[in-house]
Amino acid sequence: MSRLIVVSNRVNAPTGKGDETVGGLAMALSAALREYSGLWFGWSGKTTDKFTGELNVERCDGVTVATLDLEETDLNEYYNGYANKTLWPLFHYRQDLTAYDRSYGEGYERVNQRFAETLAPLIEPDDLIWVHDYHLIPLARELRKLGVKNRIGFYLHIPWPAHQLMVTLPGHQKLVQSLFDYDLVGFQTADYRQAFEEYVLTEAKGVMVGSDLRAFGRTVKVGAFPIGVDAAEFAEMAKSERAWRTYNVMMAHTAFRSLIIGVDRLDYSKGLEERLAGFEHFLAHNPDVRREVLFLQIAPVSREGVEAYQEIRARLDSLSGRINGEYADIDWNPVRYVNKTYRRDELAGVYRAARVALVTPLRDGMNLVAKEFVAAQNPDDPGVLILSRFAGAADQLKQALMVNPNSPEEIAEALKRALAMDLSERVARWAEMFENVTREDVNAWRDAYVGALSDVRETHTALA
Ligand code: UDP
Ligand code: G6P
Repeated sequence: MSRLIVVSNRVNAPTGKGDETVGGLAMALSAALREYSGLWFGWSGKTTDKFTGELNVERCDGVTVATLDLEETDLNEYYNGYANKTLWPLFHYRQDLTAYDRSYGEGYERVNQRFAETLAPLIEPDDLIWVHDYHLIPLARELRKLGVKNRIGFYLHIPWPAHQLMVTLPGHQKLVQSLFDYDLVGFQTADYRQAFEEYVLTEAKGVMVGSDLRAFGRTVKVGAFPIGVDAAEFAEMAKSERAWRTYNVMMAHTAFRSLIIGVDRLDYSKGLEERLAGFEHFLAHNPDVRREVLFLQIAPVSREGVEAYQEIRARLDSLSGRINGEYADIDWNPVRYVNKTYRRDELAGVYRAARVALVTPLRDGMNLVAKEFVAAQNPDDPGVLILSRFAGAADQLKQALMVNPNSPEEIAEALKRALAMDLSERVARWAEMFENVTREDVNAWRDAYVGALSDVRETHTALA
């Protein structure tokens, strides 16, 4: 079997202690790598004055983790800059927040070169290389320049935007062309794959060759590989001692009220302001049941070096405070808003204590919290999932109560329905979703992707 090299900006050393970094990519890759004695390569999360290219290597849980430190300028131009001020907002349909600054693009290219130069000497002839997410789109091009002939796959964890939006990005052709240095390009959903194909067919005069895509004189395999969670592990974790402890604390504090939860990185794509507006609408229009609910929003801070994240944090502080000011009583606060990060086993207890989960991103590649919530439920008394139709997970979790996250009325209506839902309907909806998250779990995702990459007979360079 070939060795698997996984490359991503964010690396999460799998300590097995449940204290890993927050974010769907790191969670999924820790789970996916568990069965491979592979190599995980990426950024250490640290900065130095001058880039040295020195690797920090550790062995964690059977996986070799090799990371490199970046320069402060790299961090500002590549991570805070092009990745999180240009690509992230644009790919999440926030053109209003998208910054186009030449230095960001230059920093992005430079860091991708640095990743390639540091990684190339570690690659052995038979290795499969699997590159993840929007930070590293040009990595294969840089590796090919250094003579790497291995099979290289790319997987995008976030949405691929509609063609009309993609063309607003200065230099979009060059970015897309660099995806043709891979052998396989994977997306979360069929919609994102189609949006990519549409761009290539119209902007780059591409053609479909069977299910492959040919453009820029090269052929690449394209596919949709919806990411999953380790459902069996999560279901087990929900019964762990720490999960029970958290569950009991939650139950004691809700004092017979129905708990509604949200768990998201503090990110404008997650629809947190719109969700609070929906909850407020529910409070305002349901005075009879108002005091019977409690909304807990867990929102660990994220990407604090980017202004849009500082701004949304300030707005949420004030919005949650205002709703509490308006509706709270001496013995009850409707909103509990927490910026702390929780361990996965604690989250499992929180999920289990909840009657309803509000997962209402404005756009989301997949959304693993939705799947974790389903995996953690008590089969005899499961909670209800309210899900945004704009999360990739909506393609699979069809028995959730689906909402348009921009509509406070729809969120309030779904909350009312979820809180009143009888046990048999809750069980029926949950059972179908649980079957799905168990079948299409993180191992199935990894095996489907790695299988498709292994099936590429000749590498891209041979086809060119
Ligand atoms: N998460 C966590 N602790 C927290 C909040 C979130 O471990 O306090 C994890 C959560 O369990 C999930 C991931 O962070 O696995 C978030 O992934 P998702 O796909 O929902 O969103 P992303 O952050 O990747 O946009
Ligand atoms: C999303 C992205 C990941 C990223 C994660 C956390 O899941 O798709 O690439 O790692 O958010 O964001 P951060 O900027 O902290 O890595």
